[in-house]
Amino acid sequence: MKRTIRDLKNIKDKRVLLRCDFNVPLDKYGDILDDTRIFESLPTIKYLNEQNCKLILCSHLGRPKGYDKYLSLFPVAVYLMKRFPNKVKFCPKASGKEVSSAVKNLKGGEILLLENLRFDAREEQNDETFVKELASLADIYVDDAFGVAHRKHASNYGVALKLPNAIGFLIEKELNVFSKAFENPSRPFVAIFGGAKVKDKLTLINNVIGKADTILIGGGMAYTFLLAKGVNIGKSIVDLDLVDDAKDILEKAQKNGTKILLPIDHVALDGEKVRKVLLMDQDMVGLDIGKDTIKLFKKEIKTAGQILWNGPVGKYEDKRFRKGTFEIAKAIAKSKAYSIVGGGDSVGAINTLGFNKKINHLSTGGGASMKLMEGKVLPAIEVIDTL
Ligand code: 3PG
Repeated sequence: MKRTIRDLKNIKDKRVLLRCDFNVPLDKYGDILDDTRIFESLPTIKYLNEQNCKLILCSHLGRPKGYDKYLSLFPVAVYLMKRFPNKVKFCPKASGKEVSSAVKNLKGGEILLLENLRFDAREEQNDETFVKELASLADIYVDDAFGVAHRKHASNYGVALKLPNAIGFLIEKELNVFSKAFENPSRPFVAIFGGAKVKDKLTLINNVIGKADTILIGGGMAYTFLLAKGVNIGKSIVDLDLVDDAKDILEKAQKNGTKILLPIDHVALDGEKVRKVLLMDQDMVGLDIGKDTIKLFKKEIKTAGQILWNGPVGKYEDKRFRKGTFEIAKAIAKSKAYSIVGGGDSVGAINTLGFNKKINHLSTGGGASMKLMEGKVLPAIEVIDTL
């Protein structure tokens, strides 16, 4: 078990470096379009603040190459100022003298947010000089940045090796949800996978076989599986190199008692025309699941004990092909099952429909939750001490 902030003793007045994932969407005026990640970090910030720590918050935002005014963390500082009145300061640098002097002036119970770590190229390189600089700012390091835990950067990997460390409440929650989901699921356990590329999901599906009772596959990736079964897929997206892997997966699932359901009808593009079809013509491109598939998938969702959803089941960004994804989102929101949704587009669909309160766990990690579901180790969490 990883050490959590609850296990840290005598932290009153200590300097604590807290790595958060404040990588939130902003518009060009600095308005935060979705505050989920900041909101989910508040319990840890509040806890450490109540222990009267000198709290130094740091995060990345976007993928800047050097300074970029549109990727400043200042809007996040303003957000935090509203939640912790008169306690929050912002340092417009992520490294150097300005940072060390801002930390020197920090009093117990105050919160200092540093500027976007990725404005310094050394962050992503896990550069030793930057690691040392960050470590010199604090007595204790706390990681609560689940969304970036699959990366090995200075602020979430290097620095953890230099200081007494712990995870925060958000990472603790994400780990608990995913480990229970795989080790002790409520049954039937129904996993729903979509997305365009089959190669992105093979490890994930392999890891879920034998654990889930049913796997529903939609999206572009479904066509590689359909071809593996000898179904005509017209000109739909396919990864010919992976047809054999898809065959192996279908066989493995059968041997291990996991039922895999594929689309049985489609919304397809036929030249310029959108058609609803059971069978595809040679020139058609399947871009969403059809109404019979929606019905079939909904039946499984309705009787599920646990649902895990990752990836849209159609070309969700195009209005003409988003019905399948929306219907799946609706069915999950309506179901009584314990529901977990991970991955940018599936979480986006839930949020667009305003169903976020109806899902038991909306993961704050895209790539990170994917790695966890694949059964992989997240380096930034691996490096935190165990109890
Ligand atoms: C995310 O948005 O998935 C995380 O914040 C990680 O961001 P990155 O993919 O730019 O490292």
